[in-house]
Amino acid sequence: MNKRLSGFLVFWAIAGLFSCEYVNDKHHQQLNQPIHLRVIWTEDPTEHSIVSWTTLSRSSRNILYYDTVSRGALPARYAFELPAARSGKITIKPMDYEEGVPEAYYHHAELRGLLPGTTYYFMIENNGVFSGEYHFITAPTETESFRLLAGGDSRLGGEKPRYAGRTPHVVRQNMKKRIAGLVEQYPDIYALVHGADYGTTADWRHLYWYFEDLQLATTSEGRILPMVVSMGNHDTALGFFENFYLGDEINGKTAFNYFYSTNFGSEIALLTLNTEISLGGMQYHWLKDELPLIRRDNRWVLVNYHKPAFPAVKDPDDYRFARVREYWVPIFDQHRPDLVIESDGHCLKRTPPILNGQTDPDGIVYIGEGGLGAPLREPDMLRWFMQGGFGAKEYHVWMIDIGTDRIHLSAIGMDGVVLDEYTISK
Ligand SMILES: [Fe+2]
Ligand SMILES: [Fe+2]
Repeated sequence: MNKRLSGFLVFWAIAGLFSCEYVNDKHHQQLNQPIHLRVIWTEDPTEHSIVSWTTLSRSSRNILYYDTVSRGALPARYAFELPAARSGKITIKPMDYEEGVPEAYYHHAELRGLLPGTTYYFMIENNGVFSGEYHFITAPTETESFRLLAGGDSRLGGEKPRYAGRTPHVVRQNMKKRIAGLVEQYPDIYALVHGADYGTTADWRHLYWYFEDLQLATTSEGRILPMVVSMGNHDTALGFFENFYLGDEINGKTAFNYFYSTNFGSEIALLTLNTEISLGGMQYHWLKDELPLIRRDNRWVLVNYHKPAFPAVKDPDDYRFARVREYWVPIFDQHRPDLVIESDGHCLKRTPPILNGQTDPDGIVYIGEGGLGAPLREPDMLRWFMQGGFGAKEYHVWMIDIGTDRIHLSAIGMDGVVLDEYTISK
């Protein structure tokens, strides 16, 4: 071999090694990159939050770094370092493989002992691969203005798509962008109360894309709006429990039933109920005991669940809705939450105040029906509980502006236009 040729070969051998290294490095980076970042609130968001994320490979080092000041995504500078409390492989079914979503792992870190009304900056590390810095704000104990967003049914992501990964899910994405825009416009929005039906199923081929789209709800400055989650009829798969971890216990009972109360500071409480398990039994007795207590201790009480007592679209006589009226509404009528939020119908609705099965100025207003991206349906305005209320076939998210003596509701459409407004006074 002449000198020139051997020099040439040595050069390419070294270059090859470096490029292999580079490819390996890129692969490692991709597999361990923290994605799908989200913040979940449970019973006491003044001091407790769950930060959840996904990686595409099993990682042994899953760390959340956090602090009350921005540390510019330099991990060594953050005051607190917290390993994920739960990590594991997300269940993958044959159809998930067919639809081409990657195998993945969930991670959940539980932050406790946080300060109320405080901005927490955080970043995540998986096996030496880092996220950027994000932040969220804990619930304040006292506040002049406190807003929540409420919405449900983001599952398919637009008109007539068959599968959110293959077909465009533009509507869902636009609604997520609208949420980010609202949080930028109104920094006193503290959380999104989610009325469930996140994906068509809670299998990974659907939740993967839901979490991808959810990233669009993060503001341009990296603020993540915490979510209070509930369970819907499209969420009854193992993937829901794996990816929406609420801790082991809430309110001193198992968290895996997904009914619980949340205290946003000292004056505002939210009850999350689960229409996908028995409405009687344990849940009924808990509601009967819990609602009078939180009614006594809070200025404002809200309730959120998926299947409506007063459906604007689907057949009200169907047992799925009739049983909500049979089991829960009498308890509401007795203890009077200020507002009830429902989903599932895929339209925009606001009932007139309802008490004891009829319109009554002293009654409870039921809003919602789910407009975050599932294909829309026409509400039936002839139903007694829609007359004197409002209904529309519109994508929307509700903004709930809670003051000292009134709650102001506005339904915000996909383009930011206010579609309906209503005030509940004390
Ligand atoms: Fe739905
Ligand atoms: Fe539903």
